[in-house]
Amino acid sequence: MSQGDWQHDALRELSQSGPAAEPSTPTSPPEQPEPPEDPPPGSSRMGAPVPASGPQAAGSRDPRLPIQTPESVPTVDPRLAGTLGRPLHGDSMARRARRSVRMLGSSVTREVAEGTRLAQEVQQPVTTGRVIAVTSIRGGVGKSTVTALLSRIFNHYRRDPVLALEADAALGTLPVRLGAESVRWSCSDLAQILSPSMQLTDVIGYLVPVADGGWLLPASQGHVGPPLDVRTYRTVTLALRRYFAVTVVDCETLPGEVARTAMDTAHARVVAAPMTAEGVNGTRVVLDWLAQLPHAALASTVVALTASSPDTTLDVRGASAYLRETGAAVVSIPYDRHLGGGGPILNAMLGRETREAATTLAAEAMRRAVQVR
Ligand SMILES: Nc1ncnc2c1ncn2[C@@H]1O[C@H](COP(=O)(O)OP(=O)(O)OP(=O)(O)O)[C@@H](O)[C@H]1O
Ligand SMILES: [Mg+2]
Repeated sequence: MSQGDWQHDALRELSQSGPAAEPSTPTSPPEQPEPPEDPPPGSSRMGAPVPASGPQAAGSRDPRLPIQTPESVPTVDPRLAGTLGRPLHGDSMARRARRSVRMLGSSVTREVAEGTRLAQEVQQPVTTGRVIAVTSIRGGVGKSTVTALLSRIFNHYRRDPVLALEADAALGTLPVRLGAESVRWSCSDLAQILSPSMQLTDVIGYLVPVADGGWLLPASQGHVGPPLDVRTYRTVTLALRRYFAVTVVDCETLPGEVARTAMDTAHARVVAAPMTAEGVNGTRVVLDWLAQLPHAALASTVVALTASSPDTTLDVRGASAYLRETGAAVVSIPYDRHLGGGGPILNAMLGRETREAATTLAAEAMRRAVQVR
């Protein structure tokens, strides 16, 4: 299938500026674009237009206006650099040692087979870009962490381009979690720049290259500013789907308007839920809301039941069964010292169970995302 075909649905939707219609059933991978070079942050390459400064409604930029490149802004104040400790590994030294002894046992074959199965699910080919939206019923329960984990896993297993998109302008942590040292162009900037004639090589000049692979588009430059509006969100996601096989969106908390739009229009949804009784209860309310959407949203929803403490007491099996009654899948993400310590998430520093859970979550989300017609 040609790239033109792969891009056709998204282009048509973009020109209509309407909600994302359901794309066609995927049968083969998108053509591989030229391997992108890491552009200098914020550089305008290959004659790509540069956005006007200042906030404007999406797509309303007057092309005759003077254009200006935003300043590059560090994601963490350089004066804090000395305060950051060394990242901890998710598993203690003793645990890793026990694991390497156990690796000699017979369960290894089973683990390898399961790992291969999950990798195949994560690597599933797509014919049009898939959008996976991550949200939650309240703040601070792991949305950005889950988004960063998914981005890491997709980039690890997939050869086609993957984007992490931050749709939460409230001083989000996604850029830091993905190891970005500075940010420049934001979603609102891109909404004014993107045009159907742009190539992937033009677009990535505006994105932050992520060290372990893939790209990041932040929602803001880390200032307190206006929230992202729905029109900007729609414009950016529909346009960028042409270039990226998978876009993982770090949304604001529900019931924000952008979060509701993202949940409604994504190919798959991930709801981050805290591993507490009240967190599970609130998440069930979200799932019941999703059940009322006109399309079968729950069938393409996965709950990421996340432990933010090593001492959770919730009966995970019982809580998962309660959430699964709705038709959604549930994957539990264990407490991980590396994740809990903040700062950039490094694949090699994740605990083994965390890495397996994140891969299972990516596989479950991808399986659902490609099933959507
Ligand atoms: N599996 C985990 N193990 C340990 N700590 C975790 C885990 N998941 C999340 N955390 C911690 O929980 C805190 C909140 O996570 P995160 O910032 O991802 O939440 P959020 O929902 O994006 O928050 P916000 O609503 O502010 O955007 C962070 O300090 C993070 O390190
Ligand atoms: Mg966040």
